[in-house]
Amino acid sequence: MASLRINGTTHSVLADDDIPLLWVLRDELRMTGTKFGCGIAQCGACTVHVDGRAARACVTPAAALPGREIVTIEGVTGDVARAVQETWRRLDVAQCGYCSPARSCRPSRCCRRSAGRPMPTSMPR
Ligand code: FES
Repeated sequence: MASLRINGTTHSVLADDDIPLLWVLRDELRMTGTKFGCGIAQCGACTVHVDGRAARACVTPAAALPGREIVTIEGVTGDVARAVQETWRRLDVAQCGYCSPARSCRPSRCCRRSAGRPMPTSMPR
């Protein structure tokens, strides 16, 4: 059993040492916003953040993450997330929507990391 901190909440999970975080999120915790695409760290559909950095959940063992701060698309909120979503709507970025959570997760976190600078409330046009 491992203890994972995800979106600000601590979860006790039963994952074996070699189980990728993606399957813990989807199958055990029912956080289905993070998607499976290729399974080999190439497509980005499974992108989450670990300690503020983008990580491919399909190849990241859950057992390596106790004590780390994990953020999934379900935890991406606030002004920056809204600005990213609004920009996507305005530009008709989304197509089928399958990879949208990961593609929305990454820029939201990047903007949030720009500490010391004003938080954008809208993206450039
Ligand atoms: S599922 Fe494609 S990078 Fe993880």
